[in-house]
Amino acid sequence: MTSPASPPLIEADELTVRFGAVTALDGLELTAQPGEVLAVLGPNGAGKTTFVRCVATLVRPDGGRLRVRGHDVVREAASVRRDIGLAGQFAAVEPSMTGRENLEMTARLFGHGRSSARRAAASVIDQLRLADVADRRTVGYSGGQRRRLDLGASLVGSPRLLLLDEPTTGLDPAGRSEVWEAVRALVATGTDILLTTHYLEEADELADHLVVIDHGRVIAAGPPNELKASIGQDVIDVAVGSRAVIPAVARILEHVTAGPARLQPGGQRVTALAPGGPGQLAAVIGRLGEASIAVDEIGLRRPSLDEVFLALTGAGHGDGERTEPAVPSLTAAGPAVRSAS
Ligand SMILES: Nc1ncnc2c1ncn2[C@@H]1O[C@H](COP(=O)(O)OP(=O)(O)OP(=O)(O)O)[C@@H](O)[C@H]1O
Ligand SMILES: [Mg+2]
Repeated sequence: MTSPASPPLIEADELTVRFGAVTALDGLELTAQPGEVLAVLGPNGAGKTTFVRCVATLVRPDGGRLRVRGHDVVREAASVRRDIGLAGQFAAVEPSMTGRENLEMTARLFGHGRSSARRAAASVIDQLRLADVADRRTVGYSGGQRRRLDLGASLVGSPRLLLLDEPTTGLDPAGRSEVWEAVRALVATGTDILLTTHYLEEADELADHLVVIDHGRVIAAGPPNELKASIGQDVIDVAVGSRAVIPAVARILEHVTAGPARLQPGGQRVTALAPGGPGQLAAVIGRLGEASIAVDEIGLRRPSLDEVFLALTGAGHGDGERTEPAVPSLTAAGPAVRSAS
């Protein structure tokens, strides 16, 4: 239960971090409440990891203020550290030891005595549903199991706030859903979570509150559905039976909407934001008819989070580079924003 007087989970006010000539965080403003999963999104170099490291008290701000559960990360760093767990810091899992032994060792490093470490490890194994693999040597773990063990290592200190910087990068879909399940299990036990991700689907699945940052500043924030509604445009979505007609369909979409058309993963769908709504849909249908192009399906739908993100930040503009997809070489707007850069 959260009393009305409890402070925000995270409160950033004009937060600024510089690394030499690079301004990684440029007056970041953000508030997250306890009990919600916060996802920070943004292109490569946006400042996500820097923000997580500030929350973890590993990077000292050059300006502004950052409070975690009411504690200032500079003046009350020790209190902040007591509240948080950072996954990825225990990547040095000992391969010849079992998962359980690794967790017990980490718990000992956190200051638990022998039997208390055993209990802490058992509780984490239960929490993350690692029982089936806990007594196997970690050398044989799959990527997803290994990542869950990393999560577990950050949990033996029973943090109130868990920081996950790209928890599923590099995992296949099965590994990713294993980690999602583990994160949901943690949320159910009342652990607050701050995560960064390049997978918009992941943010959509897990987060209650999204913050999109770019160049060290917040450019959009809100619950996933609000962000989807916020760009105020629907998407024309055309499914084709034959890939041969894709360039022609894309040209028509780009002509009518005056924006880039995108080839969706799978290669059988082309989409474009439609600022003109149903009128533009009718125009596209008309032109497809004139050109005798048969399509399987065509319609107007709400944008996905990927499309919101691309509209907010521009396609693949990590490190300042901006690449708008041209008709002859359609850019696949896959789930990983990173892949577009
Ligand atoms: N220790 C450092 N020294 C110098 N520059 C740094 C350092 N850490 C981060 N930066 C710079 O600060 C900016 C923000 O980096 P950060 O790692 O926070 O981005 P990010 O959003 O996590 O990116 P990615 O999606 O690639 O992980 C980048 O320009 C980066 O090069
Ligand atoms: Mg990062």
